[in-house]
Amino acid sequence: MISLGVNYSQMHDSSACIARDGELLFAVAEERLSRAKHDARFPALAIRACLDFARLRPDQLDYICFGWSAPRAAYLHDLADFARGRHPVSYLNVLNSTRHFLSMWHQGGGQRRFTHYFGPTKARMLFVDHHRAHAISAYAHSGFGEAAVVVVDGRGAWEATSIWHGRDGALEHVLTIPWPNSLGLFYAAFTEYLGFQPYSDEWKVMGLAPYGQPGVDLHDFITLDHGFHDVDGKRLIGRGATLGSGIAECLGPQRVAESEIENRYKDIAFAVQDACEEAMLAVADLAIKKTRCRSLCLAGGVALNSKANGRILASGLVEQLFIQPAASDDGVALGAALAPYLEMGQRLPVKTMRQVYLGAAYEDSEIEKVLHTYKLRYTRHVNVASTTAELLAEGKIIGWFQGRMEFGPRALGSRSILADPRDPEMNAKVNNAVKFREWWRPFAPSILAEAASEYLENASESPFMILTFPVKNDKRSVIPSVTHVDGSARPQTVDQQLNPLYWRVIEEFRRRTGVPVIMNTSFNLRGEPIVASPTDAVRTFFSSGMDGLIIGSFLVEK
Ligand SMILES: [Fe+2]
Repeated sequence: MISLGVNYSQMHDSSACIARDGELLFAVAEERLSRAKHDARFPALAIRACLDFARLRPDQLDYICFGWSAPRAAYLHDLADFARGRHPVSYLNVLNSTRHFLSMWHQGGGQRRFTHYFGPTKARMLFVDHHRAHAISAYAHSGFGEAAVVVVDGRGAWEATSIWHGRDGALEHVLTIPWPNSLGLFYAAFTEYLGFQPYSDEWKVMGLAPYGQPGVDLHDFITLDHGFHDVDGKRLIGRGATLGSGIAECLGPQRVAESEIENRYKDIAFAVQDACEEAMLAVADLAIKKTRCRSLCLAGGVALNSKANGRILASGLVEQLFIQPAASDDGVALGAALAPYLEMGQRLPVKTMRQVYLGAAYEDSEIEKVLHTYKLRYTRHVNVASTTAELLAEGKIIGWFQGRMEFGPRALGSRSILADPRDPEMNAKVNNAVKFREWWRPFAPSILAEAASEYLENASESPFMILTFPVKNDKRSVIPSVTHVDGSARPQTVDQQLNPLYWRVIEEFRRRTGVPVIMNTSFNLRGEPIVASPTDAVRTFFSSGMDGLIIGSFLVEK
């Protein structure tokens, strides 16, 4: 069975993946190919890339599976919310909901778009409930025979938080908390209030939080009565043009984007993050009680909150924890693609996802062609791992472009910018030279898996940079540029078997410096998607202050 999974909602993060007999072959977000961050358009480029990789024609697909139910259900729910007063009735709110419904309805939820780009197909079209698609993506890739599954996002069609019970390849729905009682909405509204992009820049709030002090009372917006979050969506949404307007009525003026951050905004970030962590712990606890199972799977945009995830892991609540690394909506394609198994009354193929190198790779010959096109001087290296480690130990900032591109928001050693974590100034240097991003956002370490427990408290396998751990006291000064102000880090543990070349870079760095850790940040400029092709890499390299680019077997220097 060949099945194409698609995320298309016109909201954010369109994506596609292709699976053959339950095995994921290829996955990519549209933004990487279109170069428009969080691209919400129909993922025609991503679908084309899936078909090209699998060497298939569109008419050879058995299933085309969208990670959203038909648009009518969402619209009817919104109308009911308006009628019952759960959602503020304003011209803008009603207009947006209606416009979105009409547009998706006109496109048949994406079905007509597919035919427009790829011609008629005999493939069966499936529209999978959004949270079900998230839940499948987490459970089927966890490798757990039995699991409690929690999905927490901004909103699905009408869902905001849901709990599922996976057992022997079946997935049973346990409960759903409907929109607008939404933890994702809570976090997104405060993200906008604090002067950032909602449903995109939540990382910035999480990074800012440790700079604040406790004391801000958010009970007007969220309470945790009865062990479960109760978000006042109506108050958060407000009647204004922006999401943060409802908050401004209670907490004072919204922060102007790019302005200096006053302490009161840092304190609000602290309170928002703390409330999110408490709420996530409560949901995890509830899921475990309802399913009587202590293996937990998470998905949905809120599951990208690595601090909350780290707290769940450290709480002792769970025996095993799997967070689907593309937890946001790009990842629903992974769940949708497997939904036909449930549709046919069969068991899901449950396998452990150990890596997400699911995108395109480029041969040296293709890379060399690009370097020639731009008339660049370069050198060929037999041992790029050793060359890279040498440059890093000299304090150079290196663009690293190797192998298949990662799926999901994190760069994991295929499309990364690397630097020396021992230099306390490296954070500022990378920010000034490359990322041009906010001073408070931490950089993350890649660490040899076998050395993780030497550097991190309660270390466990963490291949996807989706969990935070405390850095051991005596190591904080050894790797200052990847240790956050609160002493935590969001590591990628690197396994020799899974990414041998990247592992060798870190091992070579350890041989030279005694430190089995390097700084790893995504290969992109501020506001741009991570680079996908050699051309993207070269362009980004020359638009920044990086010192060297290791691309395939080649080193390009300035
Ligand atoms: Fe979602």
